[in-house]
Formats: sequence, structure tokens, C-alpha cells
Amino acid sequence: MKVLKIIHRSFFASLVLVVGCAHGASDQPRDPSGRAGAAIAPNAEPAEPVVPHDDRPAFNTEYFLGTAEQEATQFADFAKQIQELQQKAAADHGQPVQRGFHAKSHACLSGELRLEPHRDPRTRFGLFADDQPSRRIVTRFSNAVGWRQADGDLDARGLAVKVFGAPGPKYMPDEQDTQDFLMTNSPTPVGRDAVEFMEFARANTNGRVSGLFFLAGHAPTAAKALALTTAIDSMVTERFWSGGAYHLGAHQAVKYSTRPCDLRLVREPSRATDDYLREDLVAAAAKDGICMTLYVQLQTDPDKTPIENSSVVWEEKDSPILPVAHLMMPPQEVLPTAAAACDALAFTPWHSMPAHKPMGHINRARRYVYQASQSLRHAGH
Ligand code: HEM
Repeated sequence: MKVLKIIHRSFFASLVLVVGCAHGASDQPRDPSGRAGAAIAPNAEPAEPVVPHDDRPAFNTEYFLGTAEQEATQFADFAKQIQELQQKAAADHGQPVQRGFHAKSHACLSGELRLEPHRDPRTRFGLFADDQPSRRIVTRFSNAVGWRQADGDLDARGLAVKVFGAPGPKYMPDEQDTQDFLMTNSPTPVGRDAVEFMEFARANTNGRVSGLFFLAGHAPTAAKALALTTAIDSMVTERFWSGGAYHLGAHQAVKYSTRPCDLRLVREPSRATDDYLREDLVAAAAKDGICMTLYVQLQTDPDKTPIENSSVVWEEKDSPILPVAHLMMPPQEVLPTAAAACDALAFTPWHSMPAHKPMGHINRARRYVYQASQSLRHAGH
């Protein structure tokens, strides 16, 4: 906690600011685990994953890929693999040991999570509950690969949001005060689960094109999703999606996404330099500030909006996007000296309140993999 406070203090010192109703209650889940129809209290502790069997999946239910013990062994192996990839990326690119993914940040901005006053009653849990105030946030904008490369190169982009003052118990020992939301500019992550994601991660160490070729043979849906993530104009006008599912209250599953508050916003960067996304972001932050709306989609069907297969897009026709809050980043100057403090921050979906607990294999793996990546880069070797 002490380390975190120091990081935050120095981060803010170096930034100069210029300025329920229970969903699904009427539609009883089909629950092959024998808990069919059992009402889950919205404010209960979210249920643990269950061992799967042959029946169809149910609403709001996580299924182990195998057993809990098999997953634990697998995740320990993934954590080791990520650290090997970090060391390989550092050696291959002549760069320091950095994040296993999303190594290059464009900037971190400060702001506020301001709740949408007319948010749907079904979304009013956790940070979005009726009695919750607006809260201070830091956002980190990034490219996706685990080394620094030119912004014009093909890559996905990331938006990580850290909300401060999040009440109640948390899952990770390092931060007790925060709720993080991590998103990329693709509606689905690479892979249906963390196994496919890690296969891609290993193939991608030789560049994104070899990663794409690998996926085309092994996980065509993931390859299609990744192929859509091309060079972009601006981080400010992008949409971002959580990819994985999350609890919202213990009784329902959701995915998150963002859009610019002003959908007519256009940015025209010069693309003249390797860091044009940072330059555009810094200019937008200095002039008008940046505003993004945070949405949730509720799980409406175990097949069309599944939890354990992340490569299925939750289509908006099956589950419309519901605005819950606005990420308000007021006009501010981003100083070059803030970069180190920005990079030192640690984001993980497991910096989480129980009401927003991550769900699904792809998210369960992230609990261990992010910690491994963070501890290696904080150790600096
Ligand atoms: C499910 C969809 C996913 C999304 C939306 C996502 C998004 C992100 C974002 C935005 C960051 C940057 C965080 C920051 O700014 O510090 C990040 C970092 C990272 N991601 Fe993911 N990610 C996903 C899945 C995964 C999976 C499945 C793995 C591996 C099993 C993974 C491994 C990592 C690692 C190692 C980091 C760097 C952690 C650190 O050192 O801080 N991600 N991810």
C-alpha cells in the first residue's frame, strides 16, 4: 500500500491539472449444475465456477476448463510463459523489461467517473449503485504488443481505467482502494479462452503478422478479430470493449464498452511521427479534455452472450449497450516527466470489488498472469 501511495503521489505531482432491480428474476436460468431456479441475491458473494458437464451452459455461471486443480496448474504455467515472453521481447527489441502486453503507453490522464443519472435500474450495483458518488480516476492509453513500436504499425489499442475510493474487500493484496476496468479496441479478445490467447501470445513474439498466420490456422475467429485492429486515427475517437465478462451484482453477467461522449467527434492527426497517437491524445487533453461514456451489456442468453467463449461477440441487437457513467477527463497538460509514473501503475481486472468480479477462463487466468508481468517489470529484469 505504501509503495502504491508513493506511486500515486508522484504520478499526480507530475500531472498538472488546468482545471435494483434483479435482472433475470423473471427468466429463470437453465442451470445444469442442479441449482436451477435458485435465486442469487444481488449483493451476495458471486458464486465460484462449477465443473462442467454435458448440458448447455446457464446464465451467470462460470465453468472450469477441466477442474479447479487443472486450471491452477495451467495458470502457473501461463505466468511463467509471460515472464519468458517479457524477457524475450526485451532482448529482441533492445528495450527494458516491460509489460507482457500493452508496453507502450501514449499517456495517463486524470479525471472523474461521473455516474449517468438515468442509468438503467438493472445496472445499479457496485460502483454504479444508487448511493455511490462520482470518483477520481486515472486512465492509461496504450498499444497492445509487449514492446515499444511505431503507432502506425498494425496493433490493437488499450484503455485501462483505475477508479479510486472503491469501497469494500478486494481480490488482490496490492491495492485495497481501487476498481480497474481494462478494454481494447476490439469487441472480442484474441481467443475463446486463455489457452488460445497464450498460443497467440507465443506466436506473436515474432511480430503480429506471424501471430495472424498462426491464428488463421488455429483460431480463425480470433484471427478475424485481430485483423480488424489496424492503425487508427486517434485514441480519442475509438470504441473500447472489455472482451471478457464480469459480474454486476452476484446475480448477473455483463460486458463493458466505451464510446466518445460526442459521437460526431473527428480527429485528424498528421501521422507524421512514430508517436502520433500520443501527440494527438496530449493535444486533445490540453484543448478540450476528453469524455467517454462507459456502457454495460447484460447477458441475455447463455448461447448468444456466453461467458466461457470470449470469441463470441455480444451483439447489440441481442443485448443493447446501457450507459452507466462518463469518464470525464478535463482539460489538462500531460508532462513528459509523468511517463515513468504512468508506466509504473499496475492495472488488472482483479483490482475489483466482488460486485464487479471478473468471469470466465480468459479472466480467471489474468489474475495470475498480470501479477507475474507486474512483478517482473517492477523488479526490472
Ligand atoms: C479479455 C480481454 C483482455 C483485455 C480487454 C485486455 C486488456 C489489457 C489492457 C488494456 C492492458 C494494459 C493495462 C495497463 O495499461 O497497464 C493489458 C495488459 C496486459 N494483459 Fe491483457 N487484456 C485481455 C486479456 C488478456 C489475457 C487473456 C492475457 C494473458 C493470459 C493478458 C495479458 C496481459 C498482460 C501480461 C498485461 C501486462 C500486465 C502488466 O504488466 O501490467 N491479457 N491488457
